[in-house]
Amino acid sequence: MRASILHILRQNGDGYLSGEAISEKLSISRTAVWKHIRALKTAGYQIEAHPRLGYSLKQTPDKLLAAEVQSRLNTKLLGKKIHYFPSVDSTNNEAKKLAAAGCEDGTAIFAEEQTGGRGRISRGWFSPKSKGIYLSVVLRPPLSPYEISKCTLMAAVAVHEAILRVTGVSTGIKWPNDILYHGKKLVGILTELNAEIDAVNYIVIGIGINVNLYEDEFPEELKSIAGSLKMAAGHSVSRLDVACRVLEELETVYQAVLKSGFSEVLSEWRKRSVTIGSEVRVQGPVSSFIGKAIDIAEDGALLVETEGKIKRVVAGDVSIRPLPNKDS
Ligand code: BTN
Repeated sequence: MRASILHILRQNGDGYLSGEAISEKLSISRTAVWKHIRALKTAGYQIEAHPRLGYSLKQTPDKLLAAEVQSRLNTKLLGKKIHYFPSVDSTNNEAKKLAAAGCEDGTAIFAEEQTGGRGRISRGWFSPKSKGIYLSVVLRPPLSPYEISKCTLMAAVAVHEAILRVTGVSTGIKWPNDILYHGKKLVGILTELNAEIDAVNYIVIGIGINVNLYEDEFPEELKSIAGSLKMAAGHSVSRLDVACRVLEELETVYQAVLKSGFSEVLSEWRKRSVTIGSEVRVQGPVSSFIGKAIDIAEDGALLVETEGKIKRVVAGDVSIRPLPNKDS
């Protein structure tokens, strides 16, 4: 209901709308309208109340509040249910708890900050307050567990598209799902799976986006490898715009996958890949090697040519090696 009130007030621009008009539009009592407005003010909205004219939305807090995201969202499944945390250890952890308790398909979890943000290969994810987007989405896809690694590629394609549409910044995807700009990582995606041998119970797609950070706001060890949308675009970027667009793009690509499989995702991924065609170092669980990434297979594995053979990489860390200087 709060999302609907915000939507109506925003549509009304700078004007005022009476409590009566809102109550009629939403078929709720005027007392209920008043209570929702009071709750929105407590959450940080600046809503002016004029005794004769009614309510006018003056300022929206820079927060990824559930009602705010929902009031802007144009989706049928993703984000229909949203949980918001001012602070949490990890949105993926919350998502897994909610999924285990039976939450709806498409439930989204946002946090303003994470105190234990998790990355791939047991790494952490730097998650300072209100500077980034820390989002997890619970999906219950009718797919085999073997197909799930491709959902990670699907998420990367969706986030790439969302960033392009909102900021105009054209990023590249490093296998499997890091999003880079000029070699610096802007986005990380951590997909977690809960499944039986032959059926998926749920997956959690965790997406971390560095939005409004400058280089000097990153910890020393990340300064040379991490970037942000603000650094790439040259100006601050609305986290709300990016967050909503990510959910919308993810829904579009997910529906396409459910309808016709992953082939379109794989071809979109290839177009945006900065890995294919590059010299790479593959750091696997037991060994590491250097080779040239030539493609991704239909199951999402990276194909790397090394010593005349083609190796399939399904897990591990892949770093892109700078091309040797021809003059040296
Ligand atoms: C990586 O590149 O290693 C993946 C990073 C994924 C970070 C996101 S932030 C939201 C969600 N919650 C987490 O704890 N991790 C993911």
